[in-house]
Amino acid sequence: MAPQDDLLTHILTATIEEDDPEVTDRRPLDMAEMLRILQMILVAGNETTAALLGDLMRLLGERPDEWARLQREPERIPLVIEEALRHASPNGAIWRIAATDTELGGVAIPAGSRVIITYMSANRDEAVFGPDAEEFRPDREHVNEHIAFGFGNHYCLGAPLSRMETRVAMEELTRRVQSFRLSDDNDGAYAPSYFLRVPTRVTIEPLMA
Ligand code: HEM
Repeated sequence: MAPQDDLLTHILTATIEEDDPEVTDRRPLDMAEMLRILQMILVAGNETTAALLGDLMRLLGERPDEWARLQREPERIPLVIEEALRHASPNGAIWRIAATDTELGGVAIPAGSRVIITYMSANRDEAVFGPDAEEFRPDREHVNEHIAFGFGNHYCLGAPLSRMETRVAMEELTRRVQSFRLSDDNDGAYAPSYFLRVPTRVTIEPLMA
């Protein structure tokens, strides 16, 4: 296929420095590096935000009062998005390898252990969010203490983009869609993955303004 002014062509033609500081020539990305970047953009940067928006519409479809309130008070949208991030946790979990012997919650973790960090569980931790952590309640205390975008050095690079995309979508939807109901064909199922929490279908029947 002919090179074009698009993302794939940029990835194919990009060059990087060699790991070896003695080698000054730059090299193209190898196949594993190219696929890793594409996976990051397509999955990390796309599926997660789509899942957030889908889950948020499902939550609001079950709460018409909250939808009406968002129309009256659009300044409430960022708050509702934070609670949806906490509740939906589209990136449900991630793995790590412990670099040193450590201890977490009273459990010894030897260096070299494979560890699965389950954001979706941490985001419903009653010790942080209270006894109703399972509920969707945008006005809760500590709403911003979720870790849906991770924590520390690897904190999500796309968090501001994702928040902006979801905010713009919600501003437009609440402006254009007077009210809606969830279609009968919604089965509440999620794609079979422990790491990504993606609703397989969210369909709505809007009543336009
Ligand atoms: C609701 C949407 C999103 C969620 C829930 C989410 C979640 C996360 C989480 C939990 C991490 C940390 C992974 C780790 O600790 O290893 C992460 C990292 C990352 N995310 Fe997102 N993400 C979202 C949207 C995006 C978008 C829109 C982009 C880019 C367009 C993006 C790009 C990245 C990148 C590049 C990293 C790696 C950062 C690093 O390792 O330094 N994400 N994301």
